[in-house]
Amino acid sequence: MLTVKNIHQYYGGSHILRDLSFEARLGKVTVLLGRNGVGKTTLLKSLMGLVPIKSGSIEFDGQPIQKKTPYDRARAGMGFVPQGREIFARLTVEENLRMGLAYKSGSTPIPAELFELFPVLKQMIHRRGGDLSGGQQQQLAIARALAPKPKLLILDEPTEGIQPSIIKDIGRVIRMLADRGDMAIVLCEQYYDFAQELADDYLVMERGEVIARGLGKDMEADGVRQLVAI
Ligand SMILES: Nc1ncnc2c1ncn2[C@@H]1O[C@H](COP(=O)(O)OP(=O)(O)O)[C@@H](O)[C@H]1O
Ligand SMILES: [Mg+2]
Repeated sequence: MLTVKNIHQYYGGSHILRDLSFEARLGKVTVLLGRNGVGKTTLLKSLMGLVPIKSGSIEFDGQPIQKKTPYDRARAGMGFVPQGREIFARLTVEENLRMGLAYKSGSTPIPAELFELFPVLKQMIHRRGGDLSGGQQQQLAIARALAPKPKLLILDEPTEGIQPSIIKDIGRVIRMLADRGDMAIVLCEQYYDFAQELADDYLVMERGEVIARGLGKDMEADGVRQLVAI
């Protein structure tokens, strides 16, 4: 579903992503691990077109997309849940979900399924985003990304600062979405146990490079826990 080849990216003079390549398969969760500052968020923003890449290619759903705008990438079926959630604090839950549908036609309804995945959002539908707990905001951010029914869902550290019971719920939803088989998921994490539980494929980054990769089931044997230990 997603094929990234040899991408390089710079902030000013610093080389942030170095010759990075990977694939994300349909129906699978690809986990990207790495300590703070290794370039995970930069990579995800590059996939979405929020920062430009210097060289390399990104193919999504059979099409080269590295020259497309973030808007076009979203329209093509790429959904993004940014680090820190970026919920609109003054808008209601419903309005936040509508923002996820902004590039669809005005009459596109909010899919009812989102409220089955995250029942709390139904209870809170008229509350302001800023009044939700961190975990509820994370669920809202995921639901907002799912609203236009993406073929690829990219999540940047969804467990950051969130209570364990909600982390479990989010994990269940990610597994279920992948198992339906019509979506690829790229999950960036520092929380090893959560990542290991969900990973079909894994990648470990260090200083903008992939230093290890393999199947999720081999993570423990491959010593990934030690590679990302803080
Ligand atoms: N907007 C920016 N301008 C310059 N340097 C940045 C910017 N954003 C991040 N960096 C640097 O790029 C590197 C990778 O950051 P980031 O992609 O956020 O890592 P991670 O998500 O793995 O913690 C870090 O050294 C960080 O300081
Ligand atoms: Mg980050």
